Amino acid sequence: MNQNSRDGFSSRFGVFAAVIGSAVGLGNIWRFPYMAGENGGAAFLIIYFAFVLIIGIPAMLSEFIIGRRGQSNSYGSFKKLAPKKPWYLVGLMGILAAFVILTFYSTITGWTLEYVVLAVKDVFSSTTAVQDPKQVFEHFHTQAARPLIWQLTTMFLAAVVIMFGVRKGIESSAKVLMPLLFVFLVILAVKALTLPGSAEGLKFLFKPDFSKINSDVLLAALGQSVFSLSVGMGALITYGSYIKKDVNMSRTAFSVSITDCIMAILAGMAIFPAVYSFGMYPDQGPGLVFVVLPAIFQQMTGGVYFALLFFVLVAIAGITSIISLLEVIVAYLVEEFKLKRVLATTVATTLACALGAFTTLSFGPLKHVQIFNKSIFDNSDFFASNILLPLGALFVVVFLGWFYDIRQTKDELSNQGTLKIRLFPVFMFIIRFIAPIAILMVFLKGLGVV
Ligand code: TRP
Repeated sequence: MNQNSRDGFSSRFGVFAAVIGSAVGLGNIWRFPYMAGENGGAAFLIIYFAFVLIIGIPAMLSEFIIGRRGQSNSYGSFKKLAPKKPWYLVGLMGILAAFVILTFYSTITGWTLEYVVLAVKDVFSSTTAVQDPKQVFEHFHTQAARPLIWQLTTMFLAAVVIMFGVRKGIESSAKVLMPLLFVFLVILAVKALTLPGSAEGLKFLFKPDFSKINSDVLLAALGQSVFSLSVGMGALITYGSYIKKDVNMSRTAFSVSITDCIMAILAGMAIFPAVYSFGMYPDQGPGLVFVVLPAIFQQMTGGVYFALLFFVLVAIAGITSIISLLEVIVAYLVEEFKLKRVLATTVATTLACALGAFTTLSFGPLKHVQIFNKSIFDNSDFFASNILLPLGALFVVVFLGWFYDIRQTKDELSNQGTLKIRLFPVFMFIIRFIAPIAILMVFLKGLGVV
């Protein structure tokens, strides 16, 4: 394939949908609500939003610039932009991060598929024999076979889309699924807000309590903001390389990031009012979505339908994010090892499933395997989200801010001088000073180094 016939996104909306597909995922609907729940609600929200503005958006834009300039995967783009320097290691670190995230991300997305089936089977209906959602969850996620089968199914679905290519697979599916996701989320939020007593939940989400904020919470908010925007591991470098030269990337980065925040808040607005309305509390960690919500669906009129809507929504959000994680690896294998797309996808998927099996089993048969006092799952999540991703984001902004020719950056960002980029000095200032210092400070403090 020569340069001109390289597969890519066909339109501005196509780019937007695909990047939203990557950004909006379990991070928004499963992780954000429980993190906000554990870390002071609105106070967490404000800090989170600040990180999105000063780190997330500039880092996203930096990745787009590197990818579109480099016209290659996350490794190849660095190689192209800095041929004689070891910056390509950052690209390789991204590929490692993609693997690590895939291993635990596919576990949780797999669970949501089980819950789609449970919803269809009427387990969440108030009229059938009520089962205790806590027991249902405990029983299901500690098994070996079922969670593994769902993990494989999840990866398989993502792999099929990837095999169709960038435009026909990634873009086409996102253009349908993302609007659908948005509509589902709005319906659920409206339903939650009309429940009696929902105001308590809103208060929790929007009334700040800063006494909960400490360095751990800061690190968690930083980790969550880069995770949610898919920053720090080359997914956006890879997608950036598929963006046409006449697309205004600043606008894309901005609108994607804001939409991502809106989706997270909407998820919070669907979840917290319902939780409070039924006299429950949102501080139950990762089980929030799988234990607390089913208990609520059981008591709600029409709960089965809302349960079905909700879990289909989370599954879609998860799978479209997995697609972007997988594409990082596939693009690398195709471009650097000249593998055919189908073969590359098969190799990457098989490897991710093999590693991911350990993560899935770490809730059941491998529960006793503890490293640093944490399960395999918690280790992978911590290592990828709080270490690899912030480091990746740091290297990306430092590279563009300090080591790449500023005229080239300007040229790429302004579409060869055809766009006015008034905020360019602000952007440079942020990626040179503010973002690196903020990431480093939070990062070191969170690790307990300073
Ligand atoms: N952003 C996704 C979420 O919020 C997860 C994700 C997809 C991701 N691709 C990524 C995170 C790349 C980091 C890097 O669920």
